[in-house]
Amino acid sequence: MKVLVLNGPNLGRLGRRQPEIYGTTTHAELAHRCVEWGRDLGLDVEVRQTNHEGVLLDWLNAAADDRTAVVLNAAAWTHYSYAIYDACAQLEAPLVEVHISDPSQRPEEFRHTSVVSPHAVDVVAGHGIDGYRIALERLAAGA
Ligand code: DQA
Repeated sequence: MKVLVLNGPNLGRLGRRQPEIYGTTTHAELAHRCVEWGRDLGLDVEVRQTNHEGVLLDWLNAAADDRTAVVLNAAAWTHYSYAIYDACAQLEAPLVEVHISDPSQRPEEFRHTSVVSPHAVDVVAGHGIDGYRIALERLAAGA
């Protein structure tokens, strides 16, 4: 099964971005691990990251057309983008929402809302980079 792992804004700076919150693993290392975890689970994983909302919308629209399963960390867009909400609503294959930190436990009120969760079969948050492995396991298990 093909799985798209889509990462939103600022996640390209993983490893350098607030390591006390997001850890020291870089996005390139994360992508490599996701592909390996996927291989172990029999999944064909492709990892992408963008800082441009329209690009993420195009990827989600294509995933809807192709009925591709998605692991999505929409980063800050999670909290306010109704365009992302609408794009997730169109997905046909399962969607798992991932966050490296646990936004519900962070002090900023705006992080306590997710436009992705209503469309996700599962939400994995607060497990660091390992959350992506957990999300892939859920999809492999037939989420
Ligand atoms: C994040 C949490 C979001 O609140 C934040 O805007 C991010 C990353 C996470 O992975 O913990 O950019 O999605």
